[in-house]
Amino acid sequence: MTDSKDLEAEIHPLKNEDKKLQENPGKPANTGDGLKGLPRQPRVSRCRTVAFFLSLFFCLFVVFVVSFIIPCPDRPVSQGVWRTDYSAAVTYDFLATEDINRDRIQDVLFLYKNTNGSNSFNLSCTDEGFSSPCTFVAALSGANGSVLWERPAAQDGALVQCSVPQLQARRTSSACVLVGRPGSFVAVDLFTGETLWSHPSSFGRNASILSSLLQLPDVDADGAPDLLVLTQEEKEVGGYIYSGSTGHQIGHRGSLGVGGTAGSLLHVTRAGAHYILFPCAGSLCGCSVKGLHEKATGGGSPLKRDPLWEGMLNATAPGPLWRSPGAIHYLMNVPGKAGEDLLLVSSEACMLVDGQDLVPRWTFSAAQVSRKPILGHYKPDTLAVVIENGTGVDRQILFLDLSTGALLWNQALPGLPGDPPSASLPTADHRSAFFFWGLHELMGTNQTEPRDAQHSLYMFHPTLPGVLLELANISANIVAFQAVLLEPSRHAACVFLTGPTSPDTPGMVSVAKHKVRDLVPSGRVVRLAEGGPDSDQAVRDRFSRLRYRSEA
Ligand SMILES: *[C@@H]1O[C@H](CO)[C@@H](O)[C@H](O)[C@H]1NC(C)=O
Ligand SMILES: *[C@@H]1O[C@H](CO)[C@@H](O)[C@H](O)[C@H]1NC(C)=O
Ligand SMILES: *[C@@H]1O[C@H](CO)[C@@H](O)[C@H](O)[C@H]1NC(C)=O
Ligand SMILES: *[C@@H]1O[C@H](CO)[C@@H](O)[C@H](O)[C@H]1NC(C)=O
Ligand SMILES: *[C@@H]1O[C@H](CO)[C@@H](O)[C@H](O)[C@H]1NC(C)=O
Ligand SMILES: *[C@@H]1O[C@H](CO)[C@@H](O)[C@H](O)[C@H]1NC(C)=O
Ligand SMILES: *[C@@H]1O[C@H](CO)[C@@H](O)[C@H](O)[C@H]1NC(C)=O
Ligand SMILES: *[C@@H]1O[C@H](CO)[C@@H](O)[C@H](O)[C@H]1NC(C)=O
Repeated sequence: MTDSKDLEAEIHPLKNEDKKLQENPGKPANTGDGLKGLPRQPRVSRCRTVAFFLSLFFCLFVVFVVSFIIPCPDRPVSQGVWRTDYSAAVTYDFLATEDINRDRIQDVLFLYKNTNGSNSFNLSCTDEGFSSPCTFVAALSGANGSVLWERPAAQDGALVQCSVPQLQARRTSSACVLVGRPGSFVAVDLFTGETLWSHPSSFGRNASILSSLLQLPDVDADGAPDLLVLTQEEKEVGGYIYSGSTGHQIGHRGSLGVGGTAGSLLHVTRAGAHYILFPCAGSLCGCSVKGLHEKATGGGSPLKRDPLWEGMLNATAPGPLWRSPGAIHYLMNVPGKAGEDLLLVSSEACMLVDGQDLVPRWTFSAAQVSRKPILGHYKPDTLAVVIENGTGVDRQILFLDLSTGALLWNQALPGLPGDPPSASLPTADHRSAFFFWGLHELMGTNQTEPRDAQHSLYMFHPTLPGVLLELANISANIVAFQAVLLEPSRHAACVFLTGPTSPDTPGMVSVAKHKVRDLVPSGRVVRLAEGGPDSDQAVRDRFSRLRYRSEA
C-alpha cells in the first residue's frame, strides 16, 4: 500500500502535494462540504490549467511590455570627430575626463581664459568676482563636444584637481578644486558647474606652488578627503592643509624645513602611513603627513607614522631620506610586488626604488631623460616604463622592463620642442598601444622651425615592433593631449587641446576629439625594420582591429 502510494508520488509529485494540502486539518476552508462526494482531480487540474495559462499570459505580457512598450534607454550616439572652438582665448595644460552628464560617455574638462564665456552661457568674469579676462573651467560632452557647463573659476591659470569627493547635504558629490593665481581657492561641482565654495588662498605673497593638489585621507573627521598644497617660500617648502569639503585651511602653514623643487609626491608606505616626498638638493627629502598635520594644528592627527621611515628620517626636522645620484627631476609611484614602489628620474640615471625600505632595485644610467616617463604593457601583463633619451634630433624612445630595468625596445624618434608627452592605452591582448609625438622625417635633416613645424602623432603596438603608424599631423600648438577610452571598452579616442603658445597673445583655442579607428585608415605606415606584414594595408588592418580595455 505504501509502496504504491510512493510510486504514485514519484509519478505525480505535485498531485500528492495537493492532496496533502487539502487533507491538512489546519485549512478546512479549501474543501467545501458540497464537493466532498465529487472526484477532486478534474477540478484541481482545471485550476492548474487556468493558473498555467494565466501565468503564461502574464509572462508574455511582461515580455511584450519590456520589448515594445518600455523604450530602450537610447545609447547616446557618440560622434567619431568633434571640435569646439573658442576665439581670442588662451588655454592651459590641463585636460581631464569624467562622465559629467551621466550618459556613460566620458566628458572632457579643460581651462580657458577669455573675456566672456562661450555663447551658450552668458556668464562673465565679474559674476564670480574676477576681473575680465579670467579663467573658465569648462565641461564638454564627450559624445558631441557641446558645452555642458562652464564657470569663471580663477583669475589667471590654475592648478586643478577634479573628482575630489564632496559632502553636500549628506549626499556625496564630486568637485573640481582650482587653486588660481593670484590667491583664489575655488571648488566647482563636477556635475553642474555650480560654485560650491570660494575663498582667497592663504599662501604667502611670493609663494610658488610646488605640488599639484595632493589628496589626503580625511584628517578633520568631516567624512571627506582633505587636500594638501606644497609651496616654496623663501627657500623653504611649506605645506598647507585644507578641508576638502569646505576649502577652509586646517591649522597653520607647516614648514618642511628644507628647500625643494617641483615634483612632489604623496607616498603611502606598506604600513599605511602617508609621507610627502620631494626632490631637494641632490636628495630625496621626505616628511610625514602626520607630523605636518600635528605641527599645523598643534594637536593630534588620525594619520599614521611608519616606524621604519621614522628611523630613516631625522626625527627633529624633515629632511633628506635618501641620497640620489644627481638631482631628481621626476618622482613617480609605480605598482610594485607589494604596494607601490618609486620610480626616480635624476640627471644621471633612472631607477626603481623599493617603496618600503628605499633600497634600489635597478638603475638604468645610459640615458638622459628630460620627460616624465609613462607606463604601459610591452609584454602581456608586464609593465614597462617608457623613457625619452635626449631631446630634439637626438631623441630616442626606450622601453624598460619595470621589474628588471632591462631594455626591451628602442627607437630613434626626433622630437620637436612643444611636443606633448607620450601616452599609452591598455589593449585587450594585455599589452598597450603607445602614442608618441615626433617627426620621423626629421632624421638626418635640419631641425625645422618649431613654429611652423607639424607635430606628428605615431601609434605603436608591441605586436608590430618594426612599424609606427603616423596617425595625424597637427600644425597648431598642442597644449595638452590625451589618449582615452571615452566609452568603456569601446573605442579609443585622442583628445587634442590646441591654443596660443604664449598666454599674452590670445588666439584660437580648440578642443577636438578623434576616434583612433577613424584615423587609422588614412595613417601613413613608417617601417622601422625589415619584416612585419608585407602591405601597408595589412598593417592598418592590424591597428584597426586592436581592441582596448578600460583600466581597472
Ligand atoms: C562680453 O559680454 C558683455 C555683456 O554680456 C558684452 O557687452 C561684451 O560685448 C562681451 N564681449 C565679448 C568679447 O564677447
Ligand atoms: C543671459 O543674460 C540675460 C540678461 O542678463 C538673462 O536674462 C538670461 O537669463 C541669461 N541666460 C543664461 C542662460 O544665463
Ligand atoms: C550633444 O549630446 C548631448 C548629450 O550628450 C545632447 O544633450 C545634446 O543635445 C547634443 N547636442 C548636439 C548639438 O547634438
Ligand atoms: C617678494 O619677492 C620680491 C623679489 O623677488 C621681493 O622684493 C619682495 O620683498 C618679496 N615679498 C615678500 C613679501 O617676501
Ligand atoms: C637632524 O636635524 C637637526 C636639526 O636640523 C640637526 O642639527 C642634526 O644634525 C640632524 N641629524 C642628522 C643625523 O641629520
Ligand atoms: C642615450 O643618448 C645618449 C646620447 O645621445 C647615447 O650616448 C646613449 O647611448 C643613449 N642611451 C641608450 C640606451 O641608447
Ligand atoms: C642645415 O641648416 C644650415 C643652416 O641653417 C645649412 O647650412 C645646412 O646646409 C642645412 N643642412 C641640411 C642637411 O639641410
Ligand atoms: C603628414 O604629413 C606628411 C608630409 O607633410 C605626409 O607625407 C603624411 O601623409 C601626413 N600624414 C597624415 C597622417 O596625414
